[in-house]
Amino acid sequence: MQRITLPNSSVSLSRLIYGAWRLADDSDTSIKNVRAKIDAVLAEGITTIDHADIYGNHECEKLFGLALAENKSLRDQMEIVTKCDICMNTDKFPERNVGFYDTSPEYIEKSVTESLRLLQTDVVDTLLLHRPDPFMDAEKTGRALDVLIDSGKVKTIGVSNFKPEDWRWLQKNMHHKLVLNQIEMNVLAKEPFRNGDVSALQNDDIKIMAWSPLAGGEIFGNSAAAQRVMPLLSRVAEAQNTRVDLVAIAWLLAHPANIMPVAGTNNISRINGLSEALNIKIDRHTWFEIWTASDGHPVP
Ligand SMILES: NC(=O)c1ccc[n+]([C@@H]2O[C@H](COP(=O)([O-])OP(=O)(O)OC[C@H]3O[C@@H](n4cnc5c(N)ncnc54)[C@H](OP(=O)(O)O)[C@@H]3O)[C@@H](O)[C@H]2O)c1
Repeated sequence: MQRITLPNSSVSLSRLIYGAWRLADDSDTSIKNVRAKIDAVLAEGITTIDHADIYGNHECEKLFGLALAENKSLRDQMEIVTKCDICMNTDKFPERNVGFYDTSPEYIEKSVTESLRLLQTDVVDTLLLHRPDPFMDAEKTGRALDVLIDSGKVKTIGVSNFKPEDWRWLQKNMHHKLVLNQIEMNVLAKEPFRNGDVSALQNDDIKIMAWSPLAGGEIFGNSAAAQRVMPLLSRVAEAQNTRVDLVAIAWLLAHPANIMPVAGTNNISRINGLSEALNIKIDRHTWFEIWTASDGHPVP
């Protein structure tokens, strides 16, 4: 498995990442099954697990932490990414009458402390601000994030769903380097390739993680774009004797920006083999065939 070293840090992540968002949606949320998924992921050489405080209505970190607690050697075999700042209006927080974002130092500190407790670990490898907060006080937020690294609770800090001006404003208020931005990218969600985000991230030496690399399963759906793209993915899969989901992931891996896809399947038979995506060859011509099918019109 290829590894990506995060800028200005000793942390390295696996090129392919496993996302824990859907962990609590599985019909089997037993610790045994969570552990089986962890084992399957690690067997693929995928050592980086992506969490967020809110995943599964705040259940996913807990489920994962219970599996880690059962075998103390597991934690050292992986890097844990988690996120904070989305405050959902759910039954868990009856006092909230609206969803909002909170990047205040008090909230960030509280959220990370709770993530550490639930995950049953003493350090988070990478903490991400989950979404840009329109009410952010960058000076206070930046300082709070720096303090988290200085105190040893978190090794590195990044962002998610941030636009260039959002991450540059935050970075200007921090000593430590923002290491990555996790954004939506897949064969059906290509905007970051053309709106300048992918270039800006490379220019600022911020690594790129792609969430929902299969468009959350929509590539298998009935949308017109999915129906145009799927025959091409199938053609490549057949020619290279592999799976269509892996071809969709390989389309992201083929890009020179060293994108790190975050796969989200709950199905162990689909976790098995994920690392084969790194061996699939997608040349420029094929990459643009898929691009064009997704757009539904030729490049201008
Ligand atoms: N930062 C953010 O704002 C943000 C937002 C969303 C997600 N994320 C991260 O990204 C990760 C991945 O997101 P995602 O789960 O949407 O990823 P994804 O890999 O694009 O989609 C996974 C979904 O596709 C389905 N699927 C996979 N292979 C399939 C197949 N061959 N046929 C039919 N369905 C198939 C899966 O169902 P099965 O489980 O049945 O395989 C699952 O429901 C999340 O876990 C989370 O860590 C981050």
